[in-house]
Amino acid sequence: MATPFPSDHPYLSKGFEPIRLECDYADLAIEGEAPKELRGSLYRIGPNPQFAPRGPYNPLLGDGMIHAFHFRGGRISYRNRWVRTQQWHRERAAGRALFATSASPRDADPQVAGLETDGVANTHLVWHGGRLLALEEGHGPIEIEPVSLDTLGTWTFAGALAANMTAHPKIDPESGEMIFFANFPGRDFSGAIELYAADREGRLTRRERIQGPLPSVVHDFAITPNFVIFLICPLTVSLERARLGRPAVAWEPEKQSHLGIVRRHGRTESVQWLELPPCMVWHIMNAFENGGAIYLDVCAQDAPAFATLEGVTPDAARLRQYLTRWRIEPPGRRKATADALSHAVTERLSDVVCEYPRIDERYCGRPYRYGYVACCGGPGTGDLFHRAIGRFDHATRRMEVYRPGRHCAVSEPVFVPRCADSEEGDGYLLAVVYDESRNASCLGVFDARRPEQGPLCRALLDHRVPMGFHGSWRSDADDPTMV
Ligand SMILES: [Fe+2]
Repeated sequence: MATPFPSDHPYLSKGFEPIRLECDYADLAIEGEAPKELRGSLYRIGPNPQFAPRGPYNPLLGDGMIHAFHFRGGRISYRNRWVRTQQWHRERAAGRALFATSASPRDADPQVAGLETDGVANTHLVWHGGRLLALEEGHGPIEIEPVSLDTLGTWTFAGALAANMTAHPKIDPESGEMIFFANFPGRDFSGAIELYAADREGRLTRRERIQGPLPSVVHDFAITPNFVIFLICPLTVSLERARLGRPAVAWEPEKQSHLGIVRRHGRTESVQWLELPPCMVWHIMNAFENGGAIYLDVCAQDAPAFATLEGVTPDAARLRQYLTRWRIEPPGRRKATADALSHAVTERLSDVVCEYPRIDERYCGRPYRYGYVACCGGPGTGDLFHRAIGRFDHATRRMEVYRPGRHCAVSEPVFVPRCADSEEGDGYLLAVVYDESRNASCLGVFDARRPEQGPLCRALLDHRVPMGFHGSWRSDADDPTMV
């Protein structure tokens, strides 16, 4: 009999508590009316450990489970499946946890000690080149069959991917190229970053190494038509420290943050680094070029929830995440010196605490008006959950917010255009809402132009969708097998 999950662990209880079932709902009960023109699938993914952990639990290391909501003709079906990773199979056969869910290999069962695997595939899902890819930044992608959610195996871009890849690739809306990177490529903890591009068919067309200023946690990045932009924050990683019994991951604000700007269509020798005051950024909303400058919109916190090397943990207020803009002089106009630094200007765009920024992805890398967030909760607020979804309008500088209720927590909202040629922001926001009072979740479908008015419909599940990380939409029109 499987051991119950510990009820006192914040990431294994309440809305985070893993579920043990895989199921199919042919036709979800719907309150309200689901848009009939929506045809496609929302995929969500997050950590859902198969078994109670054998040691400390970090949700970044929990087995990935996919939740898929398929829309057709005003009906919504649902299916959830674990990603069948090598770890998942080993633990299923053993009937218990074997792998460490902490940073320490000492927490692993001796029978799997030192075993290299294909990871946990728990962070994001993207549809590109006719493949649905489950991503987790320490490993390469795992391909998923988009309807059955069967695990098809690792995808290496026909052998061209050297090792791992980010969970936050960017797809150029005009060329269909997917730009992505690998932080700590092949476990190289020197600060190197591998930059890749794949064409719209998924063929790798670029692979170049960049030497970053610090070996740091780099979770996301940005593109514009001409540039790739990295924001390196001083949350450093050091195996040498770990070997000496000190923290492997530490906050070193004295090392500053660094913006790296690389030409999309040149050689990586053209990378320019600008030093910025220390801050921590996990997710980027968007970037764009305008009037000779580059704009970078991020959810930034003054400091992350990690201690300094002196063991000092930042105050809670400094952990709060706010929508923040950097305006940067482009490379070529000025040298990357203090002169250019004076032209990298920051501005807080909203006082609403927010994370999980998303956009209408047809505007990825382009001037844009609307951003969407999960807000009102998260780090530094005393609440692990985000309680509202928000729409930020860059033209009016207003954040419109919808709170589904005191007992409810929300996922990242995913934007879906009403149709391929509808104007920016004309479409739907899809967000999973967990209701603690009934210990179950629903999918909320909002008019993206006015989410503050509440959902157009709610598709009801009888069970919990544990609070996850990210997700994306795949239109049936983008998949020839579905039309
Ligand atoms: Fe992420």
